Amino acid sequence: MADQTAVTDTDATPRPHSEELEFVYNGGDSAELARHLTWRSLISRLPKLVRRSFALAWAVDRRSTIALLACQVISGLLEALGLFATTAALSALIQSASDPAHLTAALPSVLMLAATAGLRAILGIAIQGLSNRLGPRIAREAEYRMLHAATGAEMAAYDHPGFDDRYDKADRGVEVSRDMIGESQNLVSSAATLIAAAVVVGALAPVLLPLLVLTALPQALASVAGERVTYLATLRTFRDRRMLNMLRWYLSHKDQADQIRTDTLASYLLDKYRASGVRVDRTVDEATWQRAKISLVGSAVSGLAAALMWAGVMVLLGTGHIGAAAAGTLVFALRSASGGLHGIVGYGADLMRTGRYMDDWESFIDEAAGQRLDRGALTPDRPRQVALHQVTYRYPEAESDTLRKVDFEVRQGEIVAVVGENGSGKTTLMKLLCGLNLPTAGLVTWDGISTRDLDPYALWKECAVVPQEFARWPMTARENITLGQPQPDGDAAVHRAAAASGADAVITVLRSGLGTLLAREWWNGQALSSGQWQRIAVARAIHRDAGLLVMDEPTSDLDARAEHLIFTGLRALAKDRAVVLVTHNLANTAVADRIVVMEGGRVTAQGTFTELTARPGLFRDLWLLQQDRMTPAAQEDAAR
Ligand SMILES: Nc1ncnc2c1ncn2[C@@H]1O[C@H](COP(=O)(O)OP(=O)(O)OP(=O)(O)O)[C@@H](O)[C@H]1O
Ligand SMILES: [Mg+2]
Repeated sequence: MADQTAVTDTDATPRPHSEELEFVYNGGDSAELARHLTWRSLISRLPKLVRRSFALAWAVDRRSTIALLACQVISGLLEALGLFATTAALSALIQSASDPAHLTAALPSVLMLAATAGLRAILGIAIQGLSNRLGPRIAREAEYRMLHAATGAEMAAYDHPGFDDRYDKADRGVEVSRDMIGESQNLVSSAATLIAAAVVVGALAPVLLPLLVLTALPQALASVAGERVTYLATLRTFRDRRMLNMLRWYLSHKDQADQIRTDTLASYLLDKYRASGVRVDRTVDEATWQRAKISLVGSAVSGLAAALMWAGVMVLLGTGHIGAAAAGTLVFALRSASGGLHGIVGYGADLMRTGRYMDDWESFIDEAAGQRLDRGALTPDRPRQVALHQVTYRYPEAESDTLRKVDFEVRQGEIVAVVGENGSGKTTLMKLLCGLNLPTAGLVTWDGISTRDLDPYALWKECAVVPQEFARWPMTARENITLGQPQPDGDAAVHRAAAASGADAVITVLRSGLGTLLAREWWNGQALSSGQWQRIAVARAIHRDAGLLVMDEPTSDLDARAEHLIFTGLRALAKDRAVVLVTHNLANTAVADRIVVMEGGRVTAQGTFTELTARPGLFRDLWLLQQDRMTPAAQEDAAR
């Protein structure tokens, strides 16, 4: 019960001032998991965790995994052999006290001891090396699987609340996955040590075996309880640690560096950073103290059991049940066994901690897999008509529909402009047109086929998009335009696209032309202005030569000359493409064959520029508002 309170306590963490910058913690699954962290369930998970880590290792490097397992088994056998040799050696040595002739009898056992110790040392080095080899490979494989799952999921997965939280936690799983093989290997090797020693103890004094288990049990229980405390603390600090990560990025990244300075924002954000840090420390301190108390109790009880066990040895020796040589061997074997037991407890706890993060990793992959792009397999031709039929769209877990019963159509050879106020649903409409999102109700069709039935990757091959927020890839100018998918005529196509978007003027001044790296902050590439980047983004879409060209505010950062170039070039582009254009600069819509006006997620008007400017309605209102700030000379012209 106490732990349940601990989980729900997340919201009760004292906060020094009201937090506007606050994450909603969506880690409910882990909180649920923590509640079920009982020692029994954890112990029963250990074999599964060991199996999982070896399965991952198997997937990345079979040979090393086999070698590791083989070294492990041989090392365990050698340990058992060493212990038996100890018995023989000790027995001979003790007897040699009364009769020196026994000394030579001890020689083979001593040699065996030396040989097993030497071999085990060599195997230890090999095991270490193999673990070091496998660890990073496992982490990379875990990361690859996570990225693969993320890129193969529906876009809508990202809009689900908590997706980022779960991604962050899965990322932690990736981080610790490299430790998993080492921990598993140590666990297995501790188990081998224990088995070898237990066999010896069992042969000499089986009555001591239960006592041996008793020495480890309290520590095992304490360790599981301690783990639970730590994990719950990790959950409680999750929100603040995310805040720390986010602030670290905002405080150090170049994108905001100017505003941090001009807005004199640094101390405000740094205060938030410090406040989150203090809360994390406080929670961790509490957990550390609680853990220490639990460990103390565990160790004390274990200590008592150990005392009992040693007393048992004395009694056996005193009552003549065992001889001096056997007693000496027992001392070795018992020490070895308790080392193995403590190893199992310690490494088991480590492995369970790692395993929990790996659970987060696995459940992220499962969740992403649950939202995997699972659509039809039809391959679309270059589309002649893309349409929405009574489409309603609601973002996952949003309270209302963003698009409501929208009908829309664009044909090859046609330019359709979509206009509307901020938040009216234009970008959402673009995402549905190019099959990024699937409609909640109604149909989006490409030449009459629903986007649900089309192979998404084949569909995207026919999409060229200039998104409202386009990517600035840390690659060369050429790669930024071709996106690794060059046209058959190579750079000639790149230059044509660049000329159509005005990016040619940018490329001309780059120090190595198309080969220039556009990643200043990473590899000392060349920096571009916002408008220069936008020209590259438009060139990218033109270069793609796809049947549907979607441009969402493609000229928001462009100067008048570049904007003019793009809009006058659109007609030529539309010859064999369907073009959809979103723009707030209504003068640009004059180039369109048809204008669609959106209000509150609905299409409220359609028509040509001349029709819509003549008709009362939103378009005319917005158009007149834009004219309101024309130059005096233009206003005079307009009045005439
Ligand atoms: N990922 C999302 N999850 C939930 N709601 C969203 C998401 N993206 C957009 N919305 C909501 O959908 C509505 C329409 O957004 P959209 O981006 O389509 O508007 P827009 O017309 O493109 O606006 P703008 O002119 O500002 O670009 C907004 O009210 C926004 O809050
Ligand atoms: Mg938008």
